[in-house]
Amino acid sequence: MATERTLSIIKPDATRRNLTGKINAKFEEAGLRIIAQKRIHLSQAQAGKFYEVHAARPFYGELCEFMASEPVVVQVLEGEGAVAKNREVMGATNPAEAAEGTIRKEFALSIGENSVHGSDSAENAAIEIAFFFSGLELVG
Ligand code: PPS
Repeated sequence: MATERTLSIIKPDATRRNLTGKINAKFEEAGLRIIAQKRIHLSQAQAGKFYEVHAARPFYGELCEFMASEPVVVQVLEGEGAVAKNREVMGATNPAEAAEGTIRKEFALSIGENSVHGSDSAENAAIEIAFFFSGLELVG
């Protein structure tokens, strides 16, 4: 399988509870390398732009408000099949449906406050990485 990169966000519910290290340990244990990482506080407008694809969904406003409520950690993960591997480590969107040992099973509070975001395809990963990082910040 090819080496890939994917965009990950540790969401406000997790940064607030000091879970960044524990979540990063899950990524590293799964063989994903954190090749870029920064803590930022998104504005509502920035969150709205990032989640534009969900603009028509009923939870869009709530999602953007939540993502701009407190700092997040944005990161780029690299590894073999990184997009799928990251989604496996994250677990299902709804923590009630997430498998044992996944980040969302262990840490998520609800379907909205679900601790992590991960790109859903290699194409979207490239777009999402470019949203937050310049090429110079990716140190593979
Ligand atoms: S996925 O993984 O894209 O298929 O998940 P999806 O169900 O389409 O959800 C997309 C993102 O919206 C968030 N979400 C919600 N936020 C608030 N309230 C409700 N009810 C809700 N349902 C879904 C979900 O956490 C996904 O966020 P990201 O950051 O993309 O994982």
